Amino acid sequence: MPAERIDGVAIAAKVRAQVAADAAALIAEGVVPGLTVVLVGDDPASAVYVASKEKACTAAGMRGETIRLPATTPEGELLAVIDRLNADPAVHGILVQMPVPRHIDAQQVIRRIDPRKDVDGFHPVNAGKVLIGDADGFAPCTPAGVQVMLVESGVETAGKEAVILGRSTIVGKPMAALLIQSGKGADCTVTICHSRTTNLAAHTRRADILIAAIGKPEMVTADMVKPGAVVIDVGINRVEDPGAPKGYRIVGDVKYDDVAQVASKITPVPGGVGPMTIAMLLANTVRAARLAHGR
Ligand code: GUN
Repeated sequence: MPAERIDGVAIAAKVRAQVAADAAALIAEGVVPGLTVVLVGDDPASAVYVASKEKACTAAGMRGETIRLPATTPEGELLAVIDRLNADPAVHGILVQMPVPRHIDAQQVIRRIDPRKDVDGFHPVNAGKVLIGDADGFAPCTPAGVQVMLVESGVETAGKEAVILGRSTIVGKPMAALLIQSGKGADCTVTICHSRTTNLAAHTRRADILIAAIGKPEMVTADMVKPGAVVIDVGINRVEDPGAPKGYRIVGDVKYDDVAQVASKITPVPGGVGPMTIAMLLANTVRAARLAHGR
């Protein structure tokens, strides 16, 4: 029997409805949750992401603002913008869209953001809080979204073997940190695999929950998946397709059609993890606003 498709669009809509309700409650108390996105340069993909973040904010009744800076902006100028946003009480969340131009040190930029406004969950203070299970911290939006998807689709996680493909700071490492905590959507035994892992398939075949975040198109094949496993595909890869209207199509890290014959549940690409990321960004921003005002 083919796997059940986990509908990221529907789950994200549910999260966004809750965010809108939470935002409305704060607004009724005189606090308008506000997210400021800073975009440096004119990378077309980043411009699309940033526009959708601002639109999602306003759709949830929040204040969304984008500051666009030229690609030549000196690092000091960007840091000064962050200082101003850190000091602005109307700004509850700050997100500097990555990647930044090469002359700017991304780590310096991330460290300059007040951790209480770091709704991306990239600041070392938040990374540490997520690791120690401090509920005060902000988890990065993509792994937080994956955890919500597991909970919302009724996946039992306690005691399960979770195998994560990819050790990035944005997805793989925080995903592991979330899944090893005790509590809902967690209590897993976690393995992280990466580019130097030997015998990858031996690890993936043990997984009750397999999370692919490696950025390699359709790399996870059916023979790598244990029958009945839950497969979460974080990958968003562009592959050439002369037959497609744009000359390319978007695929995940998982060979969907084949793996869906083996797995019990699987996320599609697009329409899986992707929509969750913005939903969690909004949720983090509302929480930042609530915390800032002692609610
Ligand atoms: N670039 C691609 N994804 C992200 C994200 O989640 N946050 C930021 N700041 N930049 C990104």
